[in-house]
Amino acid sequence: MKRPVAAVAGTGRGVPAHVMTNHDFAAIGIETSHDWIFERSGIVERHIAKNGETTCSMASEASRKAMDAAGVHPGEIDVIILATATPDRLLPSTAVDIQAELGATRAAAFDIGAACSGWLYAMTTAEGLIMSGTAETALVIGAEKMSAIVDWKDRSTCVLFGDGAGAVVLQRSKGGKGILSAYMRSDGKLADLLYRPEGGATTPMSADVLEKRSHLVRMAGREVFKHAVRSMSDAADRALDGARLTGTDIDLLIPHQANMRIIEATAKHSGIPMEKVFVNVDRYGNTSSASIPIALNEAIESGRVKDGSTVMMVAFGAGFTWASMVIRF
Ligand SMILES: CC(C)(COP(=O)(O)OP(=O)(O)OC[C@H]1O[C@@H](n2cnc3c(N)ncnc32)[C@H](O)[C@@H]1OP(=O)(O)O)[C@@H](O)C(=O)NCCC(=O)NCCS
Repeated sequence: MKRPVAAVAGTGRGVPAHVMTNHDFAAIGIETSHDWIFERSGIVERHIAKNGETTCSMASEASRKAMDAAGVHPGEIDVIILATATPDRLLPSTAVDIQAELGATRAAAFDIGAACSGWLYAMTTAEGLIMSGTAETALVIGAEKMSAIVDWKDRSTCVLFGDGAGAVVLQRSKGGKGILSAYMRSDGKLADLLYRPEGGATTPMSADVLEKRSHLVRMAGREVFKHAVRSMSDAADRALDGARLTGTDIDLLIPHQANMRIIEATAKHSGIPMEKVFVNVDRYGNTSSASIPIALNEAIESGRVKDGSTVMMVAFGAGFTWASMVIRF
């Protein structure tokens, strides 16, 4: 096991106040039911951005709370890394908007795009910057306004996602706490199983794109499900191997919150009982890159992550991308 170089100093979350339940889909003309959604995904409700809430505003709220918890001022942040698939604008990055909003005047700021695995990719990148001496204090955020990119006419996808943000202050580690292992993988050959077909630089937004709704998320649900189970299990194995640990050493598993059945399969594969698995997919749906940092913040707040806890996090997302990390708190 390597000596940890970077440790979590504080966490925060910023989620919209508006809650949409499974029953609320009927009111917008979506033919579905609470039972269908709950049985297949475990989702009961999700938060949806309203009244001008943006990826930047949710991320900034999460970041302020994380900085408060860490006792760090905006001026002490060396780098802001935002994982998002829903930047507020295509240019510049949303990370620079967050930097301006927070007044983190010394920071370099950039976005990372790795879909639902994005926050673990961002954490691994921040750890590298701390390890190299480029940064001492990093703000690592996952923030998504998924409601802006899902197709509200496609019942097979729109019921699964939600909005929100989570943030962590990562600092040079003291006393053996911090990141014990990290793992990242991608397979671009499978990109078209979960994607937004058009509206980027190849086929810029046009009346035709809007008409076809091809700028919105499309997903081959069954295929994604199979790959998610396989890849998250692989990622969990790699994180445990990297930290020279087994499932029994893990105090809490925080998996990406996409689907209860994927979460259960991942836990079972690693020999981790469900009592040691953090679940909030019922209350948030899939918030993509925000799901793990929101869950981590709730797990700390509720006392399920304490001083000395060993926590494993595992994610899977569009790309495909998958990633994992073991952290000692
Ligand atoms: C999306 C998912 C819930 C669909 O479950 P499924 O059992 O595979 O269901 P299918 O897609 O085969 O659809 C079964 C039927 O339900 C219908 N259906 C789809 N969405 C529905 C909804 N919201 N309400 C009611 N019926 C719905 C389909 O039209 C289909 O009907 P048909 O058999 O008459 O054609 C499931 O595949 C899944 O969870 N995939 C992984 C998604 C994910 O987590 N993505 C993010 C990864 S980061």
